[in-house]
Amino acid sequence: MSGVSCAPRPLEAEPTTWRRALQETVLLLGRDGENAAAAAADAKWIVREVAGVAGADWWLALDSPPRPDQTQRLRSMVSRRLDGEPVAYLLGGWAFRSLHLCVGPGALVPRSETEQLVEVALERLGVLSGGAASAPLVADLGTGTGAIALSIAAEHPSATCWAVDSQPAALAWAQRNLDRYPELSRRVNLSRGHWYRGLPRGLRGKLDLLVSNPPYVSEDEYGQLPPDVRREPLSALVGGSDGMSDVREIVREARFWLRPGSSLVMEVAERRAEQVGELAAGEGARSVRVHADLAGRPRMMVAAW
Ligand SMILES: C[S@@+](CC[C@H](N)C(=O)[O-])C[C@H]1O[C@@H](n2cnc3c(N)ncnc32)[C@H](O)[C@@H]1O
Repeated sequence: MSGVSCAPRPLEAEPTTWRRALQETVLLLGRDGENAAAAAADAKWIVREVAGVAGADWWLALDSPPRPDQTQRLRSMVSRRLDGEPVAYLLGGWAFRSLHLCVGPGALVPRSETEQLVEVALERLGVLSGGAASAPLVADLGTGTGAIALSIAAEHPSATCWAVDSQPAALAWAQRNLDRYPELSRRVNLSRGHWYRGLPRGLRGKLDLLVSNPPYVSEDEYGQLPPDVRREPLSALVGGSDGMSDVREIVREARFWLRPGSSLVMEVAERRAEQVGELAAGEGARSVRVHADLAGRPRMMVAAW
């Protein structure tokens, strides 16, 4: 053995243009085993962030040269990505429905499936049919960055939301996001606690909607997740040995907090969607429906009591 490392050495030469920097970044991320489409998408996010341009300006900037400090920053971001850091953590923010949310270590990166969960929640509040419920009371259990609660408050002009999380690090991101949208802060209340224990007791029996994207990965499944997903908090991902322990807790207590006739809207693991529906039916839900995501996978359960 010569002791020569085969690992890609990020951006050794000074790239002459942003186009060249992008090509090199795609190659470096692709060499690390990422599939080509994902590497190209990630490279574009990272290079655009460092270039500091968006929209049509990005295409115009492609033939201009990066400054040395930008090349330095790009090198550092590529190394962190190769080291497994999620792209959203590198960027420090991520788009979610109409919002741009801050995110980093300690909080789950909000996903596109969850954008659909919000869509289903808004539909339950009548927003999409034009007959929005007046001043509904909503709880978001396991709020993370605050993505669900803030989106509901942004898209339903009279909803009041309680956003609960057990993890101080996650709540710190939610608070940052609340500060970014001061116009929503009067209608979004953040609190720390173990599921329903984070809610004021006076809300029992009064909620018009419960929404949750709880941890639902089993311990075995966790080991199969891509390395960058495993950089997100374990407490946001794993729901006990069978992935059901948090789901069970939330479903079992839902009817004590909901107003009669109102619903729990919950993101579920595709392979356990049916099981979660049966659990809700066993807890007396009078209607249970499972909705598919855009890829046709059963990912959202709506149970009404
Ligand atoms: C899958 S993440 C969802 C985050 C965010 N709602 C989203 O959809 O992007 C689950 C969240 O539940 C929180 N959580 C885990 N156990 C909890 C508990 N016992 N009580 C309250 N929140 C909890 C985690 O900290 C994490 O933020």
